Amino acid sequence: MSASAAAPARKPAAPAIFSPATLARTDALLRKMSLDEKLGQLNQLFQFRRSSKLDGMVRDGKLGSVLFVADPVEINRLQHLAVEGSRWGIPLLFGSDVVHGHKTIFPVPIGLAASWDRGMVERVSAIAASEARADGIAWTFAPMVDIARDPRWGRIVEGAGEDAYLNAAMATAQVRGTQGPRLGTPDRLLATVKHFAGYGASEGGRDHDAANLSQAQLHNVYLPPFRAAVKAGVGSVMSAYMDLNDVPATGNRWLLRDVLRGLWGYGGFVVSDNNAVNDLVSHGFASDKRDAAVRAFKAGVNMEMASYVNAYTHLRAAVDKGAISVPEIDAAVRPILATKIQLGLFDHPYSDPAKAREIAAQAPAHQEEARIAAERSAVLLRNEGALLPLDRSIHRRIALIGPMAHARQDILGPWVFAHDPKDTVTVAEGLRAKLGDSAALAVAAGVQLKRDAPSPFESIFKEKDAPTWDAARAAGEFDHALALANNADVVILALGEKQDMIGESASRSTLALPGEQQRLMERVVALGKPVVLLLMNGRPLDLAWANTHVPAILELWYPGAQGGAAAANLLFGDASPGGKLPFTWPRNVGQIPLYYGHNLTQDPSEQDRRYWNEPSSPLFPFGYGLSYSTFAVTDLRLSKPTLLAGESLAASVVVENTGAVTADQVVQLYIHQRHGSASRPARELKGFERVTLRPAERKTVRFTLGPEELSYWSSATHSQVNEASTFDVWVGTDAQAALSATFQQQ
Ligand code: GLC
Repeated sequence: MSASAAAPARKPAAPAIFSPATLARTDALLRKMSLDEKLGQLNQLFQFRRSSKLDGMVRDGKLGSVLFVADPVEINRLQHLAVEGSRWGIPLLFGSDVVHGHKTIFPVPIGLAASWDRGMVERVSAIAASEARADGIAWTFAPMVDIARDPRWGRIVEGAGEDAYLNAAMATAQVRGTQGPRLGTPDRLLATVKHFAGYGASEGGRDHDAANLSQAQLHNVYLPPFRAAVKAGVGSVMSAYMDLNDVPATGNRWLLRDVLRGLWGYGGFVVSDNNAVNDLVSHGFASDKRDAAVRAFKAGVNMEMASYVNAYTHLRAAVDKGAISVPEIDAAVRPILATKIQLGLFDHPYSDPAKAREIAAQAPAHQEEARIAAERSAVLLRNEGALLPLDRSIHRRIALIGPMAHARQDILGPWVFAHDPKDTVTVAEGLRAKLGDSAALAVAAGVQLKRDAPSPFESIFKEKDAPTWDAARAAGEFDHALALANNADVVILALGEKQDMIGESASRSTLALPGEQQRLMERVVALGKPVVLLLMNGRPLDLAWANTHVPAILELWYPGAQGGAAAANLLFGDASPGGKLPFTWPRNVGQIPLYYGHNLTQDPSEQDRRYWNEPSSPLFPFGYGLSYSTFAVTDLRLSKPTLLAGESLAASVVVENTGAVTADQVVQLYIHQRHGSASRPARELKGFERVTLRPAERKTVRFTLGPEELSYWSSATHSQVNEASTFDVWVGTDAQAALSATFQQQ
């Protein structure tokens, strides 16, 4: 057994969020405020619709924040009530879920993650922030960085998939884009990293169900993306709903105080998820709302988000009877006030119509960024016979078939509130605009998609579901679609999941294509025409049949408002897909959980034969994605063969475009520690870079491996360690990369 070298205690990750001037101004204000004025800052309520009750609470300083108000006029009206109603002119903090865009909708976060493009993700986050801020929103509940290794879980669509390193990279890019170089940057927002922590491990993929994770899983997989967001200066953290190892995250002192503030040095504030404080009673954790309020507060929840009534209204009584001290209240209020000061809300509490007009004038540029983001998020899963890109000289009669062909709301994905549907480009519209009179385009839905049980958020979705087809209409539509396909030179199948089949309260017990889509696909393929499957979805779907029968499969995710334009460019080669999977794509639901960073088994020969009835390997590996070109990754070099624990080494490879078109490749670096105080995963992503290369162009891509990449939390020593061992290094274009080297760490 190697001697485990305990890593030097990691210095706290968190940079200072607030300037000294902000803190001085905050303390001066705190000293003047009454206890009730301080307590008012700890409450946040939804405003789904205007109410005199809520107006009264705002005017009386009983609320520090309001969420879900999207109308800038209403925001300003409420802000005047707050500023003019309170002795100290304390403004409200208006929050909203600006998850993947505000007026301009970008690909859903799982799609942005599939771009593996830090710079692009930072850019689109900055655009979303500028549009929301212009409307008077100053706070977004994003990025969501929950590791998701069970695709039955609907919220896999909102994060960056299964891997800690990729989630950490995307979290950093989103925080930097959303907040700017520091909190208070003009035209940016306060970001929230959520849901702290372990929500993606809800048992069975059942949303809100309990999560049970070992300390090693928490420290090595589920917590690192949050630590990265804290290191990037995120100004707020949202505590999760579910039980974590039998202690609800929203009442979990170890999470919110020991790890977040103690270990990482976080100086911002924590907001609960919606009604999560009230729900401590239903968890069987708190005895009543008063107990829930005190225990969430003591655990470290500064502000309570609630949609109907705040449990935190009981805090005054808790202070009066000495259960909570005034200094504790001051400590909870301080970062909230400091945030409002640093965001500039005291000096400029109202949205500025001139600024709103200035940002609105940038809409065409924002839509261009949205199209580019959709193109860069797409993942080419299969392309037998190089069917793609389509050839306009031979593919002159095109049939676009499927329920996502005309999808205007579904193409956007969940968490869309301020977007105008007229700004969406559907797949049909994108193709028609591209083809003009150069080809005949026939479009038919073929089948209808509907959730079995309605979504609890149905009232929020703008586009109401079309009336359900009766049996005769359904049969007619199906046959009509087949007839169009039969008259075409090529068929594009636009299939997937409706946007209410993914996201919150949208877990599924199957990965099958919903509804009659599989039957439609098989009947279309049976016609013998070339078929392209265009997917719009947020989780891996069962493509086992498609992967042996459909020559081309292009994963678009929910590509956002410009998705149709991006689809047309990708299908006809005006853009080349370069995205990579942010999760392992299983053959079927029976394999779950299935992820690449698993520990090795006692018999390496069994890697692919863990079941007797089918291979245990995935359909597509993590990090996988094809291109319209080909690439070579060669000449892996390490700067030294031996490393002293605490030092770093450099790794480099040469990547060359060996094909005929300019295209992107994502070069990925994985490591494996061969032995140590604890078993380590077979592979772990520890570096990636997306490069664009012209034909025959070569580039040297460089990586650094040091304590940040090589240390881990050991289940044996119950500490962060950086151990003497032999390390394998692989570099390639997905998690099954073969180009390898080794080095020793002493
Ligand atoms: C929801 C979600 C959270 C969201 C919040 C406000 O229930 O869990 O992600 O930010 O409430 O909409």
